[in-house]
Amino acid sequence: MSEYHDIIGREAEKMLEYVETGTTDSAESSFEVPAAAYTDPEIFAREKSEIFLKMPLLAALSAEIPNPGDYKAMELVGKPILITRKSDGTVAAMYNVCTHRGMMLTPEGHGSKKRFSCPYHAWTFGNDGKLIGVAEPQKFGPICKEERNLTALPVAEAGGIIWVCLTQGLEFDIEKHLDGMLADLEVYDLASWHFCGQRRIYGPNWKIAYDGYLEGYHFAAAHPETIHPRSFSNIMHFTAFGPHMRVGYPQNRIKEALGALPRETWGEHENEGYDFVRTIFPNVSIFFAPEITQIAQLIPSETPDKNITNLMFLRRDPPKDDTDAASIEGMMDWLRDVVNDEDYGVGLQVQKGLESGAVKSVIFGRNERGNQYFHKYVDYLLGGTTNAAPPEL
Ligand code: FES
Ligand SMILES: [Fe+2]
Repeated sequence: MSEYHDIIGREAEKMLEYVETGTTDSAESSFEVPAAAYTDPEIFAREKSEIFLKMPLLAALSAEIPNPGDYKAMELVGKPILITRKSDGTVAAMYNVCTHRGMMLTPEGHGSKKRFSCPYHAWTFGNDGKLIGVAEPQKFGPICKEERNLTALPVAEAGGIIWVCLTQGLEFDIEKHLDGMLADLEVYDLASWHFCGQRRIYGPNWKIAYDGYLEGYHFAAAHPETIHPRSFSNIMHFTAFGPHMRVGYPQNRIKEALGALPRETWGEHENEGYDFVRTIFPNVSIFFAPEITQIAQLIPSETPDKNITNLMFLRRDPPKDDTDAASIEGMMDWLRDVVNDEDYGVGLQVQKGLESGAVKSVIFGRNERGNQYFHKYVDYLLGGTTNAAPPEL
């Protein structure tokens, strides 16, 4: 058994213990977060500049652009970006902005082509960002082509995910950034999976939305018919890797499921008696499941009260036939509806509640340990007073 599975096995054992003793992983005390953290435009602007524009962000899944020539164009935190897979198989990231007069080079979406022709005056660019041709160059006059390549962004591919930093020249070390979370991603070998599609939903402040992935305290009340039939409410296990977290959620059948397996194999049976939500700071959550895997990407919108969420779906194997493909579509819709109607349904009301000025702070209990850690980390990165060093879980 690998060291990784050994650790997962111990976490499964811990979850079983919590279930049997009616306890949960617990922080030392409760923790308050000012309501303004979810509503204040200045705090929101600092979160964008200090976190979202400085840290590596998930821009695409490797499986979205598996072949040379494939690309994805999207908006990320208000910036139009283009991710491509070049002929040598490596990836490039750049602004999706023509260097002639600033037109969006290609519409949002996926496709495959080796060169991009700007819809405004037909300048062409290679998928490595190089300016290939100026339309009617004799009339245009001389220009330095090298200075008019697309604006590149720092990029790395690791763990089946393509990471981009939205600040030009701000290079990053993705292994260091992902820390122990990289092992989780690598065990799953996501790059070889099949990208099924995505759904987009609109929700409240990005931290209200993220809070929902970090606790199962709300399962019984907010998800009585969808998640609660599978998982216990208010029993969680937390592991942190830097700002990222693996949050364990025991299933209602954990005793039977693990009881039927030799103890030394428990770690190899995620989804059989226990599940995890993995969060990758600042805005990704991953839920692996054999039927379908959901990767949620929360993108802050223009104002503090809104986020755009892309729910991306992967499966190990492509659909076998039309029936299988239809069932995948059905599962994606179902998961979208759960997050949209239940989590974001609550979240939008929370947003209103906090904006009313009714409460000065929200309070996270000892059980809401993951949320405490997340908010302390955000505060630390904004130069706040919570901690002089990154908080420990
Ligand atoms: S703006 Fe792109 S070719 Fe003119
Ligand atoms: Fe939820």
